Amino acid sequence: MKVHVDPHIRDTYRVFPAEGRGAYLRYDMNENPEGLPAAFVQRVLREITPEFLATYPEPSRFLGKYAAFLSVQPENLLAVNGSDMAIRYLMETFGEEGKEIVSVAPTFEMYGVNASILGYRHVTVPYDEALNVNVDDIVAAIGPDARIVFLTNPNNPIGNVYTQDEVRRIADRAEEVGAVVVVDEAYHYFYPESFVQYALTRRNMIVLRTFSKLFSIAALRLGIIIADPELIGYIRNAKLTFDANSVALLFAERIIEEPGLTEELIRIENEGKAYVLQELEGNGYECRDCRGNFIFVRTKKDAHRVEEILREEKKLLVHAYRHPLLRDFLRVSVGSRAAMERFLKLFYEAESEA
Ligand SMILES: Cc1ncc(COP(=O)(O)O)c(C=O)c1O
Repeated sequence: MKVHVDPHIRDTYRVFPAEGRGAYLRYDMNENPEGLPAAFVQRVLREITPEFLATYPEPSRFLGKYAAFLSVQPENLLAVNGSDMAIRYLMETFGEEGKEIVSVAPTFEMYGVNASILGYRHVTVPYDEALNVNVDDIVAAIGPDARIVFLTNPNNPIGNVYTQDEVRRIADRAEEVGAVVVVDEAYHYFYPESFVQYALTRRNMIVLRTFSKLFSIAALRLGIIIADPELIGYIRNAKLTFDANSVALLFAERIIEEPGLTEELIRIENEGKAYVLQELEGNGYECRDCRGNFIFVRTKKDAHRVEEILREEKKLLVHAYRHPLLRDFLRVSVGSRAAMERFLKLFYEAESEA
């Protein structure tokens, strides 16, 4: 007899990132290509003893410090295993089988993947040819069956952002139908505007942050949910007992309290981005500052061929798209000026060989 498999999970189509990326220069997944200062990492690693590893995680000490760092209360926060996990918990807590989640398309794929796993309908609002999305269309897409609206600010990959007024309109409409609005701020600090204040004052708004992007510890998996304490309480009911791990919590604590580190990471990133955009535009490339730690560049030769040459011959990874609106672009993660010099040299070579 065949075992029972949840039909939504059985029918979900998944594409997992390629492995073996350590052998390549990595500009394809919006990571920091170089990571944190090596001396800082070594210093934190020295705190990790056998006893530390033998003990279950306790997130409160970090959350207390992070709350002060964000100027919120610890009751507004939940630390989880990456914003990937946060998205799953939010879906389970506020979604409903057969009902709807709403997002723009294209956007971060995990909203759609989780909707499929859980049997929710994914209502998508498309971009136009000029890569703009109409906020009236988002408001109109929030019907009576909507349970969660995902706004990614700035959106990955297109990099558009929402104004305060636009988010207020979306949140007001969501409130009418009992839906929560999740603002995924994975790229906060690269883009400084935030909706945390809305999450603190509205009962139907939640903000997500991650330590994978600016803070450069994607390997450790740490995402933060910011919301009203009542909503945090519901999400806590949904979560695994031990979620964010002790090594991630230790690194995050040391990162936020390291004098000048946050500012230095932002400075390095801004310098690298300004440099690569100026270089590419100076060489006649159409670029898009996607307002995160990544840019789009429209290749002169076929984007998929350039991506292939970079990967196969130059051992450098970038992200190419099948989506018709994005087919001519490559998405390139941005790091330090030195990291972008390395990218440009190999990119120009690949363009000339394509
Ligand atoms: C918009 C957005 N949200 C969430 C994530 C995932 O972050 P994490 O590493 O915290 O799971 C990403 C990663 O690229 C992203 O682009």
